[in-house]
Amino acid sequence: MTRILLLHGPNLSQLGSRDPAQYGTATLDEVVAAARAEATPAGADVEHFQTEHEGLLLERLHTARTDGTAAVIINAGAWTHTSYALHDALELLEVPKIELHLSNIHAREAFRSTSVIAPVCDGSIAGFGIDGYPLAVRAALALLGRRA
Ligand code: DQA
Repeated sequence: MTRILLLHGPNLSQLGSRDPAQYGTATLDEVVAAARAEATPAGADVEHFQTEHEGLLLERLHTARTDGTAAVIINAGAWTHTSYALHDALELLEVPKIELHLSNIHAREAFRSTSVIAPVCDGSIAGFGIDGYPLAVRAALALLGRRA
């Protein structure tokens, strides 16, 4: 079974009621389910982890180096724009990595258009709301197919 690790950073626990104009009305459980619905028929499994604590996210990424994780999809929330530690943890992890955002980070406040993690991810998906989740799973599986 191909194991995809789906990670969410801060404030994404509040999806569903957080700024629906930017993030839509789907809850965190619902966006995770959208990823799983794409992965399961393809024989892949989505493990999900969300945290408000940056160190826990870094530790989860370190664990992913040796626990059989095949690919990572990460919506890092605001840490996308600020965290060089997250950049470094992702850089250490040698599996396909997809950066994901619900909103189009390039069409919002200026600070959101910089992603410090983009250079250490294989690619980015932003602006498609919940539909970005199955797209990210497809991108991860395609990258794995190319590396196999
Ligand atoms: C986000 C975009 C970030 O700028 C923001 O801080 C979030 C959510 C998105 O999914 O659009 O928390 O990552």
